[in-house]
Amino acid sequence: MRLRWLGHAAFYVEISGRKVLIDPFLTGNPVCPVKPSELEHVDIVVVTHEHGDHLGDAIEIAQKFDAYFVGIYETAQRASQRGVKKAVGMNIGGPGELEGLRIALTPAFHSGLPVGVVISSGSETLYHAGDTGLFSDMKLIGELFHSDVALLPIGGFFTMDPEQAAIATTLLKPKVVIPMHYNTFPVIRQDPELFKKLVAEKAPDVEVVILKPGEYYEYKK
Ligand code: NI
Ligand code: MN
Repeated sequence: MRLRWLGHAAFYVEISGRKVLIDPFLTGNPVCPVKPSELEHVDIVVVTHEHGDHLGDAIEIAQKFDAYFVGIYETAQRASQRGVKKAVGMNIGGPGELEGLRIALTPAFHSGLPVGVVISSGSETLYHAGDTGLFSDMKLIGELFHSDVALLPIGGFFTMDPEQAAIATTLLKPKVVIPMHYNTFPVIRQDPELFKKLVAEKAPDVEVVILKPGEYYEYKK
């Protein structure tokens, strides 16, 4: 799989030939390097919750590409009411199959109706934690889904900070962890190198990949 960080919690993921856009906060995102109009193609848009920095441009992008819009039931329902044709309302539990991918929503501790999401091609698995605090059932998410790559918020204030996200990494046990949801705004300013150092101490088997907004990362098993 190849993914591109678009800043904040937004990722453009190419997995098993499908193009999945997660939490596309592009317009108004001070660190996002691309405009919605510059996106090549999107098959599936996933929204972890309806806060503006996650819902972002999701409705417009789903409509433009006639993409599936995946979110928790109520979020998908509202997208449908706003004109999205292929809104898929899921809920926390076992995976569903869409476009050859297995997609599961996971708990997240945050306000509103927050979830994380696991996306798997069968051979490669990605976990995007959404906005969340630390919780011990991340251990269960790790045991259930065996993520290759985990995307974890480290900004603090609204979500986990570097220390908590390092503990999350020990629970999830991914192969690779990529920090997100930091340095978008002053209130979530963090040093990703601190996160890297803490993971090296607590979970030395996990590789930390620090991206700059706009950068790509290719995961090879
Ligand atoms: Ni939020
Ligand atoms: Mn957020």
